[in-house]
Amino acid sequence: MSRVEKSASTIPLTVPAGGSCCATLVMVDLQRTRIENVSDLDQLVCEGIKNITPYIAGKPLEELEREYGITGAVKLASNENPLGPSPKAIEALLNHLHSIHRYPDANSYKLKQMLAEKFDVPPDAILPANGSNEIIELVLKTFLRPGGEVIVPEPSFSLYTKFTQALDGVPIKAPLKEFSVDLEAMKEKIGPRTRIVIINNPNNPTGTIVRKTAFEQFIRSIPENIVIIVDEAYGEFVTDPDFPQGHHYLTDKPWVITMKTFSKAYGLAGLRIGYGIAAPEIMHYLNRVRQPFNVNLLAQVAACAALTDHDHVIKTLRTVNDGLHYFYQNLKQRNIEFIPTQANYLMIRVGKNSDTVYEALLKEGVIVRSLTSFGFHDYIRVSVGTPSENQRFIASLDKVLHHCS
Ligand SMILES: Cc1ncc(COP(=O)(O)O)c(C=O)c1O
Repeated sequence: MSRVEKSASTIPLTVPAGGSCCATLVMVDLQRTRIENVSDLDQLVCEGIKNITPYIAGKPLEELEREYGITGAVKLASNENPLGPSPKAIEALLNHLHSIHRYPDANSYKLKQMLAEKFDVPPDAILPANGSNEIIELVLKTFLRPGGEVIVPEPSFSLYTKFTQALDGVPIKAPLKEFSVDLEAMKEKIGPRTRIVIINNPNNPTGTIVRKTAFEQFIRSIPENIVIIVDEAYGEFVTDPDFPQGHHYLTDKPWVITMKTFSKAYGLAGLRIGYGIAAPEIMHYLNRVRQPFNVNLLAQVAACAALTDHDHVIKTLRTVNDGLHYFYQNLKQRNIEFIPTQANYLMIRVGKNSDTVYEALLKEGVIVRSLTSFGFHDYIRVSVGTPSENQRFIASLDKVLHHCS
């Protein structure tokens, strides 16, 4: 390897020299790692991938503090657990750190047993995954063919569309009706190429739910050759008794695949762990597609411990419930519109350009989500935080709405 002059675009790389244990410092010219003729590369890339807009994740706290030179910022942008992880999960993690030189259990045996008991289904009806996102990906890889259609609510969780496009499938968007998933509109979109229908319940970002009667009528009217994914990432937060839990319909409709996560109510987003619940015959195929060690060792032990930590879940649900009431009360007092929610986040109509309000809130050290990319140009989405984070949000919103023109 030739040596290059050190410049702003070079980084030092330490590589072993001649197989010995000594290391030599080599400079890598970053400019020379760039592909000059991007159109050549473009020809190699799969068609569907060219049309994907990258996922916009909530801004990390550290990034905001670094960029704006502030400290003590709060993040209410990614619908995480305001109380942090379950203390039992933390204890289990600490007890298992010494084992991470081993591969994890490829079948997540213990976790599957615990989830099977919780949901009263056979263990092979459960598939733990690297975040519930992985379940979407596995289902699409298994059932979608190029040109096949996936019907999704719009706006909703953007990854449904991105994964579909990545597999050269065609996302078919069914607009929401009054901020709710419109099952009739979804049904009308079904055609000969439809392979999969995705219902997000509660829907992100609106927080609204599809209720039992509508859900039951819908799944019974869907042809047998179409797979239905029910994404219940926020299902634990729902208080409406008319909420249809996807896994209850396994016997009625074996093509229903429910996905759930430990990222929200259980506070394990950083470990990446979720799961699917579906007929064992479906799981049999998904198991062929997944990576053998898709759920890491620490995620498995933390999830098992979190499942036993009922106190933490109860405290989380209470915190979210109280936080929502606090938001509702304060927004009503200020005549600010919002969409009543069944999840741990709330859509608020700020009545001004949401990107402008988002930026102004960032300067106040509060990270929320602008909903411009969802097509809601004067709405933001805020996750429920701790009581002090919620107060900080309301105070900052007051300040920002007062100043934003
Ligand atoms: C609707 C919805 N589904 C799925 C997910 C992904 O969750 P996980 O962290 O389990 O991959 C999210 C995450 O924000 C979400 O909002």
